[in-house]
Amino acid sequence: DVIREWFGLNHLEHQLKEQLGLNKVIVVAGNSLTQTWVKNDLGRAAVQQLKQWAEPHSVVSVAGGTTMEAVAQVMTPHPVLRTLLYVPARGGLGEKVEYQANTICSQMAARSGGQYRLLHVPDQLSEEAYESLLHDEQIQEIIKLVKSARIVIHGIGEANTMATRRKASPETLAKLKNKQAVAEAFGFYFDRNGNIVHKIQTVGLKLEDIKQAEHIIAVAGGQDKAPAILAFLKHGVHDCLITDEGAAREMLQYI
Ligand code: BG6
Repeated sequence: DVIREWFGLNHLEHQLKEQLGLNKVIVVAGNSLTQTWVKNDLGRAAVQQLKQWAEPHSVVSVAGGTTMEAVAQVMTPHPVLRTLLYVPARGGLGEKVEYQANTICSQMAARSGGQYRLLHVPDQLSEEAYESLLHDEQIQEIIKLVKSARIVIHGIGEANTMATRRKASPETLAKLKNKQAVAEAFGFYFDRNGNIVHKIQTVGLKLEDIKQAEHIIAVAGGQDKAPAILAFLKHGVHDCLITDEGAAREMLQYI
């Protein structure tokens, strides 16, 4: 605590909480853009928060990405986490297997001793395939479960980085540029005012569904992510932000 005071982390948290109208902000020391270990600290802070908010047998809906992977990596067996059911927030978004929400759910369950369910949805869906999947009984059952999540935990990405990482088509990249997309979360892309400008066709949570959850934990750090975090929060789906000093200080320059 003395160290947190010394680095001014408590003050940063307070400022961000007030300025962004969040219920809870946690700022960990460092900048994950340049210091790779900081992502693990973000992960540890997220697990701590999850332990605080989880009730026995809660459904937790989880997004993909390297930050969520870091969250999964630092989970350990725990009396409450062991009773949780982890489900992916949305189906395939074009990520590498290790960063897919499905993989991360199974990792979280394996490390904490909990249960998981998977959403078997291929990455590139045609309109017809999408329609027929929506009518599939098993998929419907999982989607119902995903929508019932008490806690949602997710990362926030920079739009262009995410589109490139997912090998988006030149048309999609042009569209994102044209619409000035700056942020991405759950496969939705946002402009700086928080408007959705593009979404990846898949099944799972809609952004309105996320608002139904009792707790929404966004975990995103790194100085370069500041505009993306601010843009996503403008969309209005927020509750708790877990970030690092690099992103926190940069965000305060913009607001
Ligand atoms: C994606 C999630 O997989 O990862 C997004 O669906 C998130 O919600 C993104 O924005 C962030 O990735 P990273 O690697 O920066 O944590």
